[in-house]
Parts: sequence; C-alpha cells; structure tokens
Amino acid sequence: MGEDKGVKKQVETLRNSIRYHNYRYYVLDDPQIPDSEYDRLMRELQSLEKKYPKLVTVDSPTQRVGAAPLKAFGGVEHAVPMLSLSNAFSEQELIAFDQRVRERLGIDRPIEYTAEPKLDGLAVSLTYREGVLVQGATRGDGASGEDITQNIRTITSVPLRLVGKNMPAILEVRAEVYMPGKAFREFNAQAGSRGEKTFVNPRNAAAGSLRQLDPRVTAQRPLAIFCYNIVRSVGVPLAVEQQEVFTQLKNWGLRVCPQNEVVIGSIGCFEYYHKTQDMRDSLPYEIDGVVYKVNQLDWQRRLGFVARAPRWAIAYKFPAQEELTRIQEIVFQVGRTGALTPVAKLEPVFVGGATISNASLHNMDEVQRKDVRSGDWVFVRRAGDVIPEVVKVVQERRPAGTREVSLPKHCPVCGSDVVRVEGEVVVRCSGGLFCSAQRKEAIKHYASRRALDIEGLGNKLIEQLVECGLVEHIDDIYDLGIEQLAGLERMAEKSAKNLISALEVSKKTTLARFIYALGIRGVGEATAQALARHEGTLERLMETDVESLQQIPDVGPIVARQISIFFDQVHNREIIHKLRKAGVQWPQHSVVAAQDTPLAGNTYVLTGTLEGLTREEAKRRLQVLGAKVSSSVSKKTTAVIAGENSGSKLSKAGSLGVEILNEKQLMHLIENV
Ligand code: IVH
Repeated sequence: MGEDKGVKKQVETLRNSIRYHNYRYYVLDDPQIPDSEYDRLMRELQSLEKKYPKLVTVDSPTQRVGAAPLKAFGGVEHAVPMLSLSNAFSEQELIAFDQRVRERLGIDRPIEYTAEPKLDGLAVSLTYREGVLVQGATRGDGASGEDITQNIRTITSVPLRLVGKNMPAILEVRAEVYMPGKAFREFNAQAGSRGEKTFVNPRNAAAGSLRQLDPRVTAQRPLAIFCYNIVRSVGVPLAVEQQEVFTQLKNWGLRVCPQNEVVIGSIGCFEYYHKTQDMRDSLPYEIDGVVYKVNQLDWQRRLGFVARAPRWAIAYKFPAQEELTRIQEIVFQVGRTGALTPVAKLEPVFVGGATISNASLHNMDEVQRKDVRSGDWVFVRRAGDVIPEVVKVVQERRPAGTREVSLPKHCPVCGSDVVRVEGEVVVRCSGGLFCSAQRKEAIKHYASRRALDIEGLGNKLIEQLVECGLVEHIDDIYDLGIEQLAGLERMAEKSAKNLISALEVSKKTTLARFIYALGIRGVGEATAQALARHEGTLERLMETDVESLQQIPDVGPIVARQISIFFDQVHNREIIHKLRKAGVQWPQHSVVAAQDTPLAGNTYVLTGTLEGLTREEAKRRLQVLGAKVSSSVSKKTTAVIAGENSGSKLSKAGSLGVEILNEKQLMHLIENV
C-alpha cells in the first residue's frame, strides 16, 4: 500500500513537471530544459504507467493517442453559439465599423481594440472540466458541430490538463487549429514523394487532418493551436478586457498568438494591419487578415450581435492570395542550367496584390500529378515573393477538347536535344552555352545583386545585348564600350556611361561572390562562401578533387560532382581566365583560412523580416560559419539580428543587454569574418 502511494505521488510529480515544461515550451516559447531531458521525463512516466496501469488517467500527458478509430463523429450542441466575423476589405469599411461601434456606445474619442492575426485554420471549441480537457468540437453550422475530442487530444500544444491556479469548474475556449507553414510544406513534400494526396494549403491540411476518423492519423499530422476567446468560465469571474483574456488563457497553459496587441482607434488598426501584412511571409503560420475586437468586454456585451456575427469585432482581410483564372497555353522556359520549366500563360488575374499572367508548373511530374492542360480553369496562388504557381485544376470546369502537354524533344530556344538525367525530375536542354537562353540566364545571374551586383545591367538589357550579338558570354560584358551601348534602343548616353562605371566597380569583388556568380549548379551563396573560406584561392578550388570537396561543410556528393564537372570544362576555364584578365579581382588570402568555423561558439537569434535574404538563408549562412541559430533570446545569445517589424525578441534582447545587429551589420559579419 505504502509503495503504491509512493508511486502515485511520483507519477503525479512527473505529470506536473511535464505539464509545466509543456507550458514553458508551447505557451511561453521559452523552454527550460532541453528536448532530451523532456523525453526522459516522458519515458519515465510511460514506464511507470506501464508497470502500474491502474494509475493511468485521461489527462496524463502520455494519453494523447490511443483511442480507437470512429465510425462517425458524434454531434455536439454548442452551449454558446460559434459565430463568424463580418469582413472589411478597405480602409473605408474599417472606418465605418469603428464609427458604428462608437455611435452605439455613445463615445466620440478613439477606443481600444485588440488586434489579432486572423489565423487561417479551423475554428474549434475546447471544454475543460475541473481543468481536464473533456471535449473538442468543430464549428459546424455554429449551433452544433462535431465531436473531435480524440483528435484534438493528439495536438501537442493542447494541454490535456490546465496548469496554474484559480481554475474554473467549466472553461470553454474558442481557438484555431492550424498547420504551421514549414510543417505543411514538409508534410506535402513527403506525401508527394510517396505518391499520396497532398493538400492545397495549410488550412485544408488542418481541416483534413482534424476530420480524420482515426485519431492515430491525426496524431501524425503536425498541428498546432492558438486560443483567442473564453465563452464560458464557471466559478471564475470573466475578465474585464479582451486583453486580460489572453493573459488568463496563457496562465492556464493555453497557447495564445504572440502577435496579439492592443491598438487605439482606427489609426492604430491601420498601423497594425500594415505591420502584420509586412510580417506575413515570415510568420510561422498562415493568416488571411487581422481581427479587431473591442477591448472592453462590457462594451462587447452592450454591442451584442447581428445575425451570426458580433457587432464588436471585424476581420480586415488581406487581398486574396488565391484566385481562379484560365490557362491560355503551356510553354517551356529554359533556365540558366538548361532546365526546362513548364509555365502556364494565364488570362491575367489580380492576386496577392498584383496582376499576374504567368505561373510556374515546376516540372512535368507536377503537370501530370495535377493533370494541368491548356484551357483549364485553375487556382493560382501568389504569396509574398514566391513565384506564382498553379495550385489546382478545377476539373468540373474543364472545357471540351483540352490536350495533355507533352515534353518537347528539342529545346524551344536553340533546338538542341532535350535530355532527362536518370533519377532527376528535371529535363534539360543539352545545348549548354550554345543555347542563348542559358547564356542569358547565366549573365543575369552573374550581374545579380547578390553576385557581382552590376547596377544598370538588368534582365531586359541583357536579353537585348545577347539578341543583338553584342554579348555572347559573361566576359563579353567587360568589352562593352559607350558607343555600342549608346547605340541601343532606349539607352541614353548618360545611362551608358553609368553602366560602364558600374561594370568597373563590379570588378572588385570577393572570392565567395565570384564563385556564386559563376552559377555552378547547386552552389548557392552559403556553399560559395564555404568553398571560398575553405579553399582560400580560386586556383586551389579549381584543382580540388571530388572527395576533398565533400569534406567542406555544406557540400554533399552531388554538389561536389557539379563543382568538379564545372571546372573540368575548358570553356568555363576560359571564361574565368578572361574575366580575370578583364580585371575581376578579390582580396587574396595569403594564408588559407585556418579556421572554417569563425563564428563557432556564437549564438544568434533572427527576428523580423530581412530585405535581401530570407531568414532561412541567413540562418544557413550563419551555420556554415559555425554559429548556432536559436529561436529564443537568452543571456547566452551573442546578438539578435533584427529585421523590419521585430517584436518581443528585440525588446527581450534590449532588457538582457544583448547586442542587436541590423541587416547591414549581418551582411558585413557573414561576408567579412
Ligand atoms: S474571433 C465571435 N479571433 O475567423 C468571434 N476568430 O471569420 C469569432 N479566426 O470562425 C471568432 N483568427 O475560425 C476570432 N483571432 C481570431 C481569429 C478568428 C481566426 C477565424 C475563426 C472564425 C473565423 C470567422
């Protein structure tokens, strides 16, 4: 008996400790122990529960999966209806909303709103009794939904038991279940490679995953949750402000979106809207707008509802990122490495804030998988800087007489044979430098901002120069004279002069930039930098064999082979020779870099939006130099790198006295260590 009591206590202590660490991890985003330690606690609990099955309870952190598949979901009557929100699509509509609110309340000064990202997932309602999760339900028609408790239980950021004190006897919260963008892309890539069904967007992925009758399937899906409202709280007084609701939720261990804020008046709403729109692509979750709610809860009650939406809240939507249009024809574009990419020429459509008339179809496998044909009606998507793409064909609207696209046997630009390398999805023009499309792309890459950065030598001009025969290969750009340039259409003498001096300036570069500029397949900026650091000189790099190349961080066997093939080509060597003869140069390292990892021992945190590169790219480049990149700021952080719209991490850095670098300083750091 005594032993049993001891074990029971031990089990409870372990559970509480795991719950606390869940709270640190999911709610505060500030873990106190490493994952390995957490896993150890979990394993210890699992083994005790296995030995003493009687001690297992439904709210034990081990009990996320285990329920048997259902035949159908049960129905749930919502104690409080699940409403929807009215939408605003313009500043005027938002101003009108704010005016209506203040008129009804009889207030003529600006009032407080909470501003929250409008999460693009699936609305759910969670009910806790005495702190234990007892029900999860979908919205359904708002009055009743489906009982998805067993599926909700599999979501690791949903606590099975609340933490903290002063817990209501019954707590019902409203929340959004979503699939984080990165997890969504990984999931789709894996499902696609297994030939399984992929999802159109993270929202469909979340919905599809939650509506699985087998909770074990849901458990495999990387879902997460953000809670935003409390609709029932028996035994604990309701908060006074919406903002307080967030604090209450967090104190009970429920996850709240960190981007929620309080703003004042419509001006505050607009500022938040723009700030959030700018952040949109760097957020780890999808959003389709922002939501404003009157912050005072008694004002919310006074305002009440119309039909199925509250008068005290509104969703201000971002321009749609997906639209419907028709494919006029499918053509093949030839890239720098000769890769033939199928591209859909579209009936122009306004999407994601711009009019688009082309969308990438990536490769033939994708064309076949999606069964895309000329004349089809399709969903196209344009999100942020990402190239527009065809997401899905509307099969029901397929007109008669469409034909499947087939791969051309010859390059559409130079007529050379098209080849498919075994094991690769990509097909390529075999023309190499004979193909003007490949030459144009190679020159565009060489001149691009992150390569030799030749101002004034833009894509249009390069195309013109290649077409009229003034430039054939990269090195020819340094032979251009003012008269030749000024003779071109739309080129004034002033611009010609500027270009000549930009060409001169570009000659002073770094070895890493030069290697990147060569456009070797698989060699991005980070790899180029690793190569430069490791080899020290171009001569050495050109002579290094495949095995030695693979010793370099960031260089795998495939890239190593590409590098070696590139430098084995006589014409590539000739071009390099001519470029150097024209004066392209970089500081020579007299001693080969002794240390490949100059940033070893340093930890950086990236926050906000960077302009010139993505956070992922910045992370990789720091890692190549030996640095660690962490997601949370602590005293051990070497520096926080803050882009536009940096949030709480920046203020935390400030309060801990951690150094803060801007994007320029970051570039300086990675290019000069
Ligand atoms: S509040 C009565 N807050 O948007 C209040 N909803 O269009 C209704 N949503 O069904 C919900 N983020 O699925 C609220 N921060 C947020 C939200 C949010 C996303 C969804 C939710 C709701 C839909 C209404």
